[in-house]
Amino acid sequence: MKTRHQQTSTAPDPGAKKDAVSLGDILTQVRRSIRSVPNVSATESEQLVSAACSFPVSTLYAHPELPLPHSMEQRIMAWLDARRNSVPLAYLTGSCEFWSLPVKVNPETLIPRPETELLVEQALMLLEPNQPALAADLGTGSGAIALALAHERPQCVIDATDISSPALAMARHNADQLDLAQRIRFHEGDWCAALFKKNYDLIISNPPYIAANDPHLPALRHEPHHALVSGNHGLYAIETILDQARRYLRPNGWLLIEHGYDQGPQVFERAIELGYIEVQTIHDLADHPRVCKARWPVLTR
Ligand SMILES: C[S@@+](CC[C@H](N)C(=O)[O-])C[C@H]1O[C@@H](n2cnc3c(N)ncnc32)[C@H](O)[C@@H]1O
Repeated sequence: MKTRHQQTSTAPDPGAKKDAVSLGDILTQVRRSIRSVPNVSATESEQLVSAACSFPVSTLYAHPELPLPHSMEQRIMAWLDARRNSVPLAYLTGSCEFWSLPVKVNPETLIPRPETELLVEQALMLLEPNQPALAADLGTGSGAIALALAHERPQCVIDATDISSPALAMARHNADQLDLAQRIRFHEGDWCAALFKKNYDLIISNPPYIAANDPHLPALRHEPHHALVSGNHGLYAIETILDQARRYLRPNGWLLIEHGYDQGPQVFERAIELGYIEVQTIHDLADHPRVCKARWPVLTR
């Protein structure tokens, strides 16, 4: 079951001067200013001010008259500037939420996307709640997928890999914070080459799948390029994982890979060509094909 983790609150500085800007005024200013920034949700102003001041959002509404210390005002203005330059809010606050778990991120890690929760949902349908299982999360980044699986399936052990050691350091930190480190093992390396076992019940991955010439890339410039972009029109990492995972799945083991909304048919075809069975394309709530689910067969000689 998902749990909500609440933000801690810090009391406003009682020493703040009377002529200081008030919480309500600064929120109005941020709202006005953030409106012109593309791809920013309406609730971001509240999130930005609340995180910059370490107040719960409710305080913004309950105490708009509170005078803000100058240091907080400066931080809000600096974050607003960064936000106008398309720096994601999660990099400013240093955290985000995935599967209702608090996940720390930094510019070395991709910010986990809500779309990727579809991958987790699919995995949970394959992993029995009280059955021991061995899973691998390839390209774990902040650890988001591995953390969600370990949180939901207490009997599951997960090997989480990444080619980026700073990303792995962040994933390890997240596992420690959520008390999940005993069941997530971290390995640095190139996709399946980082794994030591060859009998996974499930291999799961959200690999980079954006083509190098994709017009959306400039808007994502603050996130790590190697976490987003892959060769061969965005399909190189997916095809590599489809190929390699065959040697690491146990017979009847499952592979789940996230892909771009326009890559469904190619990924499906490639999985069939490589010998997977029960291949399926899973659609998201907007009915976009987003996940390839496939099973490695029991091979008979
Ligand atoms: C799209 S991000 C996914 C991060 C995380 N799993 C998530 O869903 O938020 C892809 C991840 O794959 C990692 N990666 C890229 N190339 C890799 C490779 N050759 N071997 C292993 N990991 C790789 C990146 O460092 C990045 O963390």
